[in-house]
Amino acid sequence: MNQGDLKAAAAQAAIAHVVEGAPLGVGTGSTADLFIDRLAGLKGRIPGAVASSERSAERLRRLGIPILDLNDVEDLPVYVDGADEVNARLEMIKGGGGALTREKIVAAVARSFVCIADQSKFVSRLGRFPLPLEVIPLARTHVGRELAKLGGMARLREDFTTDNGNLIIDVSGLDMADAAGLEDRLNGIPGVVTVGLFARRGADLLLLAEPSGVKTLRPCGR
Ligand code: A5P
Repeated sequence: MNQGDLKAAAAQAAIAHVVEGAPLGVGTGSTADLFIDRLAGLKGRIPGAVASSERSAERLRRLGIPILDLNDVEDLPVYVDGADEVNARLEMIKGGGGALTREKIVAAVARSFVCIADQSKFVSRLGRFPLPLEVIPLARTHVGRELAKLGGMARLREDFTTDNGNLIIDVSGLDMADAAGLEDRLNGIPGVVTVGLFARRGADLLLLAEPSGVKTLRPCGR
């Protein structure tokens, strides 16, 4: 089984968590794309989806699934999305695809965050994957200096603008032992719009695909 097969297995397993008759939150990335493709069979059984990116919205539209404005949604039972890294507490690094801000907003509204991932994403310690930060263009240099003070090495993502018109800085080398504390600290830097650490609002469920099958994990110690 290759990584694509594992992503597809996790995406398929998430279909069982979709609440029929209710809006659905849909994430961004290659695993989320595979989930979207599998929603074709549910068309007409959900009123529509809230998408965390223009890219996912377009893919949903092509399937004929209505796109809902989050502001018009009163109750969002489930949000399904991938992760770049996830640990046993179901804290995550997200934003490899640059959609972290909308992902964080949709995740905050959803009652349940179902993370879908292949086994390569499951880590004992977060931090090998560079942490994405969405940053206001004016603050790029300031944020880079502040990250350096925390021991981070910041790199501007080249030729990339987010759906919100901002930049992405990918930072490596930060100590993530206290992920929630680090999330708060980075959120406090002026100019940082969103931190790709999802520790304060982690996932509620992880559907982790391994060659032997898809495991369902709940947060451990959080
Ligand atoms: C998008 O901004 C990210 O948060 C993705 O959810 C994450 O990068 C996982 O993407 P893949 O499923 O492509 O690995």
